[in-house]
Amino acid sequence: MTGGTRQLVEAFCEGARGQEGIELDVRRADQADAAAVLAADVMLFATPENLASMAGMMKDFFDRTYYGVLGRIDGRPYATLVCAGSDGEGAARQIARIATGWRLNAVAEPLIVITHAQTPEAILAPKTIAAADLARARELGATLAAGVSLGIW
Ligand SMILES: Cc1cc2nc3c(=O)[nH]c(=O)nc-3n(C[C@H](O)[C@H](O)[C@H](O)COP(=O)(O)O)c2cc1C
Repeated sequence: MTGGTRQLVEAFCEGARGQEGIELDVRRADQADAAAVLAADVMLFATPENLASMAGMMKDFFDRTYYGVLGRIDGRPYATLVCAGSDGEGAARQIARIATGWRLNAVAEPLIVITHAQTPEAILAPKTIAAADLARARELGATLAAGVSLGIW
């Protein structure tokens, strides 16, 4: 809603593009579908934390795709990125639980980035993600892409 998650995903993609032979398919959750999940060698689920949960749009993505791909993506690698004002654990936990149902393989700890937005004004303001956090997202992108291009997973 306020650009934090988007900036982190862009940094993740920069890191991933540094690896050879990587093709990125970046979609908002409302544009993602079962076919995109089936086509992916590795997935990053990125969401803000809203009301101690993943974004509603992200939940809708899982609701729409869950049973269509269940049993067809066992063992596939994934990671999670959460942009949160102060916590982020609730969203990360929810995604981990769904990923367990899909029998995915978590290849990194959830990357939780805290924007320190606490007041309504700060929460509703556009976000600027700190350089150190963008670097963490870039590194996660490089790690996931390297794992794919080297055939580690
Ligand atoms: C309705 C709403 C609920 C929120 N609830 C939480 C929360 O439970 N925990 C938290 O850490 N941050 C919470 N936040 C703060 C957002 O996670 C934070 O502003 C983050 O930067 C949003 O990511 P975005 O910039 O990609 O929209 C909430 C924000 C909104 C708008």
